[in-house]
Amino acid sequence: MAWSRTLNSDSDTQRQPAVEIRDLTFRWTEPGPPVLRLDHLRIERGERVFVAGPSGSGKTTLLNLLAGVAVPRQGSLRVLGRPLEATGGARRDHFRADHIGYIFQMFNLILYLSVLENVQLPCHFSRIRRERARRRSGTPTAEARRLLKQLDMADAGCPDSPVNALSVGQQQRVAAARAFMGAPELLIADEPTSSLDADRRTAFIQLLFQECADSGATLVFVSHDNTLAPLFDRTLSLAALNRATADRETALQSGS
Ligand SMILES: Nc1ncnc2c1ncn2[C@@H]1O[C@H](COP(=O)(O)OP(=O)(O)O)[C@@H](O)[C@H]1O
Ligand SMILES: [Mg+2]
Repeated sequence: MAWSRTLNSDSDTQRQPAVEIRDLTFRWTEPGPPVLRLDHLRIERGERVFVAGPSGSGKTTLLNLLAGVAVPRQGSLRVLGRPLEATGGARRDHFRADHIGYIFQMFNLILYLSVLENVQLPCHFSRIRRERARRRSGTPTAEARRLLKQLDMADAGCPDSPVNALSVGQQQRVAAARAFMGAPELLIADEPTSSLDADRRTAFIQLLFQECADSGATLVFVSHDNTLAPLFDRTLSLAALNRATADRETALQSGS
C-alpha cells in the first residue's frame, strides 16, 4: 500500500531519532535481577552523548543493546528507526554491520591482519558500507587511507604492517578508523580512552567529533572518567536513569 511505503521509506527512517527506548527491562539471565530498567531514553541524530556511571552500572550492557548484541524481553528499543526488540538474530547482525561502528575498550583488532586490512573489515560484511567507502574515496582501500590520515595515523609506519607492531594509542586510532569505515550512522565507543593519558584523551575525542561531524553520525561514548563529560553535547548518568540500580539499593537497605 502506498501509505506504508511512504512510512517505511528511507527518508522517513532518517527522520527517526538515533535511539528511542521505552519501558525497557533487561536481564542477562532469566530469571534473574534486572541489570537495566529504563523508562525513556531518546538520542537525536547527530548528538554526541556521554554515558557516565560507575563500574557495574550497566554501561556496556546498554551499548550491547544499542548494537543489537543483546535483546530486551520487555519494552521497546528503536535504533535508527529499527525496532530491535522485534528483529531476529541474523537481521540484527546485518543491521549492525550496515549501520553501527563499534569501538571496543580493548579495540578487538585482528592482530594477524595489517592496519589497512583491519580498517577495511566492515566493508567485507556490509555492501552498504563498501558502497559508501567507494563513493567517498573511489575504493575501500583509498577510504581506509583517508581515515587513517584523518586520525593522524599517516606517520604510523607502513599501513601494511601488522597491528601488533603499533603502540596502544595507534591501535586505538586504527580501531576508530575501522568504526568510521563506510560512514555508519551510529558510532558506539566503550571506554576507548581508558589507556591514554589526559592530553591524548582529549585529542582523540576531538578526532572522533571531527569524523562524526563530517559524516553526520551520532556518537554514544561511554566512560567512567567524568572529566570528559563537558566536551559532549549531553551527559546521561546511568546511575540516575537506570531504575534497576535504585531497586538494588532499596533491596540492600531493607535487608532483603
Ligand atoms: N555478558 C554478560 N553476561 C552476564 N552478566 C553480564 C554480562 N555483561 C555484564 N553482566 C553483568 O551486568 C552488570 C552490568 O555490567 P556492565 O554492563 O558490564 O557494567 P559497566 O560497563 O557499567 O561496568 C554487572 O553485574 C555484570 O556482571
Ligand atoms: Mg563496561
